[in-house]
Amino acid sequence: MPDPFYITTAISYPNGRPHIGHAYEAIAADVIARFQRMEGRDVRLQTGTDEHGLKMARKAQETGQTTRALADEMSGHFKAMCDGLDISYDRFIRTVDPDHHRASQALWSSMAANGDLYLDRYEGWYSVRDEAFYDEGELIASEDGTHLSPNHTPVEWTVEESWFFRLSRYQDRLLQLFEDHPDFLQPESRRNEMIAFVAGGLRDLSISRTSFDWGVPVPGSDGHVMYVWVDALTNYLTGVGYPDGGEQWKKYWPASLHLIGKDIVRFHAVYWPAFLMSAGLELPKKIFGHGFLLNRGQKESKSLGNVTDPLALAGRFGVDNLRYYLMRDVGFGQDGSYSAEAIVLRTNAELANSFGNLAQRILSIIFKNCDGRLEANIAASAEDEKLEKEVLDQISELRAAFHDLAFSEGLASWMKAVFACNQFVDDMAPWALKKTDPDRMIAVLMVLFRCIRHLAIGVRPVVPGSADALLDQMGIAPDEREYAALDDPHWFRELARDFRVTQPRGVFPRLELPEAEEA
Ligand code: MF3
Repeated sequence: MPDPFYITTAISYPNGRPHIGHAYEAIAADVIARFQRMEGRDVRLQTGTDEHGLKMARKAQETGQTTRALADEMSGHFKAMCDGLDISYDRFIRTVDPDHHRASQALWSSMAANGDLYLDRYEGWYSVRDEAFYDEGELIASEDGTHLSPNHTPVEWTVEESWFFRLSRYQDRLLQLFEDHPDFLQPESRRNEMIAFVAGGLRDLSISRTSFDWGVPVPGSDGHVMYVWVDALTNYLTGVGYPDGGEQWKKYWPASLHLIGKDIVRFHAVYWPAFLMSAGLELPKKIFGHGFLLNRGQKESKSLGNVTDPLALAGRFGVDNLRYYLMRDVGFGQDGSYSAEAIVLRTNAELANSFGNLAQRILSIIFKNCDGRLEANIAASAEDEKLEKEVLDQISELRAAFHDLAFSEGLASWMKAVFACNQFVDDMAPWALKKTDPDRMIAVLMVLFRCIRHLAIGVRPVVPGSADALLDQMGIAPDEREYAALDDPHWFRELARDFRVTQPRGVFPRLELPEAEEA
């Protein structure tokens, strides 16, 4: 059995509704999870919401709600987004969940037992928007003379009693980690940034707050709640049974992959491994910091009024079109830009006109010209075999690329196979063979049927709903849609025995170009 695979997304602050960036991360994580399941691995996918901290408390004050009411309402929108985008999560964690409080307190106690926590006074800069402390040297001066964080968010001078974590003790071990495990942090550019940050020296980290109470109580220290990032990061442990242990813990920890945005790499690649080392726990195997998704080149923000509701986008263009577009158009790890036209152009060209059309055409001809019957007893010609091999080879390329999180490249290979099939259809013109060489027509249709099945299986992690709808129409059983099924030499003969193609229904509709709104 291959190793189990535990993948997580960052958990989002539910201080507002989800935007396209949240959708992008959830979709990418889901594609990875579905891909690994199709590779035969036992996968666990966790996502959720990060509900404590000053940012949440202040937002609730502004809107005149209790913080819990705000959290409940907004967390519900995040969960609805995941459900609407076909995210196959095993747990949607909320940091207000009771088991999460227990896990956070257990992690805290382990770090304390290791002698890494001490009480002192914090004096310094804090960005509520980032929920992050910054050194004076990291700040940038804004035009009006105030200070801004390196992310251009406001910072405020903060003085309070606080527990500290001895991060300074972990500098050497962290540098060693980056050296011994070059894959720990990807892409490479983020790794270099973090090595420079750690090599520059680490200060102890303030990890509790006393000026508000919306957080996980620090064990044995009245009036202190944990710094929101301490409890947030712990979510990855909570979801697999920490601190009790048990089957899930044994199976899934350490996590295979924490998928996060590039802006929160420091928390995941420096603070998190240090906390885990302190508590004597194993470190996650990989952290991947993906890029940002821009709306026509601009960051979405409330003040620009260009914030897109991902569910509205999915409703308009289709969930699978949105998923395909995001994985295909944006190089994973880089920043990307999206627009309605680009979604329409890409999915029309590749899903509707190329793959969808191929499937619809071939299934229709089989339905009409062969009574829907499949025929396994006509020998494939050399060119038929060549086509099928090409398709299977390109799907192997897709799998290798997806394994390396190179989704766009993987889908480019898949498209090559789709093009090869369409070229084959044009060259063979099966409809014209009906009169001249009916056996040859059947052979051509059968190899295309097989190739369409391979292609649907190949792309299934990205467009699960559409691929399954197509495979349903092709009579492929739900438990024969994993990659291992591509190696099964008997499937076609078995299927041909009594399956009949009925009038096919297109599963990749063409979209209309949005004209008026973009002018
Ligand atoms: N809520 C944080 C943010 O949106 C991310 C927390 S990820 C965690 O930036 F795992 F650390 F919780």
